[in-house]
Amino acid sequence: MEKDQDMPITIRTMQVSDYDQVDDLWKRIHGFAIRSLDDSREYITRFLERNPRTSVVALDGSKIVGSILCGHDGRTGTFYHVCVDEAYRRHHIGRRMVTACMRALQEEKISSITLIAFTSNEVGNEFWNDIGWTKRSDVNRYDFKLNEENIVAFTK
Ligand SMILES: CC(C)(COP(=O)(O)OP(=O)(O)OC[C@H]1O[C@@H](n2cnc3c(N)ncnc32)[C@H](O)[C@@H]1OP(=O)(O)O)[C@@H](O)C(=O)NCCC(=O)NCCS
Repeated sequence: MEKDQDMPITIRTMQVSDYDQVDDLWKRIHGFAIRSLDDSREYITRFLERNPRTSVVALDGSKIVGSILCGHDGRTGTFYHVCVDEAYRRHHIGRRMVTACMRALQEEKISSITLIAFTSNEVGNEFWNDIGWTKRSDVNRYDFKLNEENIVAFTK
């Protein structure tokens, strides 16, 4: 666990028991795409069981104010739903959570990480650029939907 200098925030590994608070946080984040199946308690539980050491939450006392869902497939790490409560932004909580996930993935011998940022997400793109991540312009991303019941809802 790490403590911040200017804000007493703790970063620790996400547990299944954090689901309710993390789900509440996701729903407070402007512009998030929440999936009816992938983000359900059942599927997040399965995700955390497959990836028990790599997702994190940021806590102010017992209140969850940030989280990153992070896993890997044995080759590449992936970040989902990187977020910090609006009232807690610009205190390097996002940066600290990213570092914690990077360390956790390194411990599992993963060498690269990928994530999606909507092109319309100015804050998110500023963040990734500013903390030194590389925006790929040499690839196209392809998706194929296997289950149309995994409905996407955008927050706010
Ligand atoms: C993106 C997000 C997680 C950043 O969390 P945060 O804790 O506020 O970020 P940090 O304080 O660690 O910021 C690190 C650096 O990123 C940059 N940055 C962060 N927010 C920024 C903003 N609103 N505008 C410009 N630059 C910003 C700055 O360079 C900052 O360093 P500095 O404060 O020393 O200048 C948060 O804004 C958020 O939850 N946004 C909504 C969800 C989202 O867009 N997630 C990313 C999806 S890909």
